[in-house]
Amino acid sequence: MSALRLFLGVALPREWHRLLASLEADLRPGLRSRTTWPRPGNGHITLRFLGAVERERLEALGRALSGVAFGPFELGLAGAGRFPPRGAARVAWVGVGQGAARLAALAADIDTALAPLGFGPRERPYRPHLTLFRVRADAGDAWEQVLEKVARVSWPAHGVDAFTLWRSVPGPNGPKYTALAGFGATSLWRPSGGGGALGGAGSGATPGSPRG
Ligand code: 2AM
Repeated sequence: MSALRLFLGVALPREWHRLLASLEADLRPGLRSRTTWPRPGNGHITLRFLGAVERERLEALGRALSGVAFGPFELGLAGAGRFPPRGAARVAWVGVGQGAARLAALAADIDTALAPLGFGPRERPYRPHLTLFRVRADAGDAWEQVLEKVARVSWPAHGVDAFTLWRSVPGPNGPKYTALAGFGATSLWRPSGGGGALGGAGSGATPGSPRG
């Protein structure tokens, strides 16, 4: 029985990929710490990491995810931070501003849809963010200055109308992601609840912007 390493997330528009590449070109040469950056085009906003899933479960997974109803929404990036906020840095991220609550609601609805398949609760509360780079060995860089620079970037808003199931395959230059399936939004859905033909799944979620 073979398993695939899977996760769910939101794909990024071309312009965000371009801005990520220029941030890497700008920041990386000045860092003393050993860092790994997503391969070009690999950047995404994670909704749920699934881990190893047996191939036999893919069909049921797809069916469950097809039942997640959500309306299209605008996503905006703003600010920057690091995990953890103090001590040795592990992850530098760009924050989600506009649309963070919708992203959190979608993540919660995904959790609900996947629970009957045996996917348990998350290890950590969901914090919407775009990973900029991971720190393999923190050599004491001036992270506040680095993050200030990141926070100055102006990201155009992006309309989200689907989420993606990705497969992650490890490789010598870091993992490579392959999109396996997309799950689209429906314009019949209404976020306020009650008004939409498909009901108000996702209403009432708390905003999920990351706090380091
Ligand atoms: P990230 O969103 O903070 O970058 C694919 O590995 C994606 O799943 C990554 O983007 C990663 O986080 C997210 N992820 C969450 N939990 C993970 C885990 N335990 N192992 C690997 N990736 C994880």
